[in-house]
Amino acid sequence: MATKFNYDKIFSAKSSDTPINIVSHAKYDFAVAYPAPETLPMDGLIHSLTTAMDTNSEKVNKQMAYYPHVMGSEELRDFTSEKLKNDRGIVVDKDQIVLTNGSGEAIGLVIQALTNPGDIVLAEEFVYMGTLNQFRKFDAEVVGMKIDEEGIIPEALDQQISEMIALDRLPKYIYTIPEHQNPTGSSIPKHRREQILKIAHKYNLPILEDDCYVDLRYESVAEPAFRALDDSGIVIYVASFSKLLAPGLRLGYFTGSDDLIRRSLNFKLGSGPNQFAALAIDGYLRSNQESHKDNFNPLLRDKYQSMNESLLENFSDFGAKWSKPKGGCYIWLNMPEGCDISSIRDKVFSEGVGYIAGTNFEADGSGQIGHNYARLCFAFESPEKNRDGIKLLADIFKKYGVVN
Ligand SMILES: Cc1ncc(COP(=O)(O)O)c(C=O)c1O
Repeated sequence: MATKFNYDKIFSAKSSDTPINIVSHAKYDFAVAYPAPETLPMDGLIHSLTTAMDTNSEKVNKQMAYYPHVMGSEELRDFTSEKLKNDRGIVVDKDQIVLTNGSGEAIGLVIQALTNPGDIVLAEEFVYMGTLNQFRKFDAEVVGMKIDEEGIIPEALDQQISEMIALDRLPKYIYTIPEHQNPTGSSIPKHRREQILKIAHKYNLPILEDDCYVDLRYESVAEPAFRALDDSGIVIYVASFSKLLAPGLRLGYFTGSDDLIRRSLNFKLGSGPNQFAALAIDGYLRSNQESHKDNFNPLLRDKYQSMNESLLENFSDFGAKWSKPKGGCYIWLNMPEGCDISSIRDKVFSEGVGYIAGTNFEADGSGQIGHNYARLCFAFESPEKNRDGIKLLADIFKKYGVVN
């Protein structure tokens, strides 16, 4: 066998040895971040590809033969512009929409356009790990904003920013997931959004609005997007087709002011996202978006209700609290102060129940405030498995002395 080539002196200073995660699933998998495979409209997506070929094969062939436009498929941008107007009251032209390889890429491009090493960014005190990882990769300092069951607390935010300014620590921008937040499940009511926008203008802070979960809703209607409430350019809006359709499609998008778009695209490597996926999404959603949501969201409600009911049966005596989301994928479990459910996560996983421990979502990464919290995804397993898995989780917590 040849001697192994040694890269030690060749690797770049910025590169680091990154472990490649092996995805494993617990018997009751509440750790995932997506709906169940059986809810994906695979037949419909395939049908829309076939229809596109049957009706205009020349055009499809051409689209497939060329590298996609850096902003992505014109047809899907056109559909997205209509979707934003109809669903979110956001009026933007297709040329103000950039399609990306999932919304994760959109978030990364915007972060790079806005962030110098050491810049301070505000995010909900518990927030999506993927974005936290990107902030860290680009050397931002993330500071948590106080939240309650209705998300960011405007008064606390105003006070926090003025205290930071007094210490010469002016934050640069705000990142928020206002609808069915990941991990807490909360949605920020309109009156708070209006207050937060006023604060953003007062301190000149752009808002990076991540609306990833807006299409997943089984109760009442969505709150207006920050972007719909403010047309000045201070709001950068990011969303995704991952949760509505399928993460495997890798398609998301963002919209912002023209200069913000150009600066963000400066960090884009290569061409726009997968044209095949764009074609399938465009064809499918143009005629099936509402029926898909009508199939999908009642199922999501059953899943949510079964987990909530099982929590009521099995966790009420523990003094636990949990969020009551109207959509999205997650319930945020809050065990009493002093319960450590972070350090036993791996043991609980090996006994059959997966969850993500609260410490992983801490904006400031201090490891100080999250150990009695867990994110439970109710969207993946069946209602029966949600019920049984929560019962088992309660038994395991008792066994490990988390609760009596
Ligand atoms: C809040 C939030 N934003 C963005 C993403 C990224 O999703 P994608 O890149 O699949 O669009 C996720 C994925 O879980 C998420 O939870």
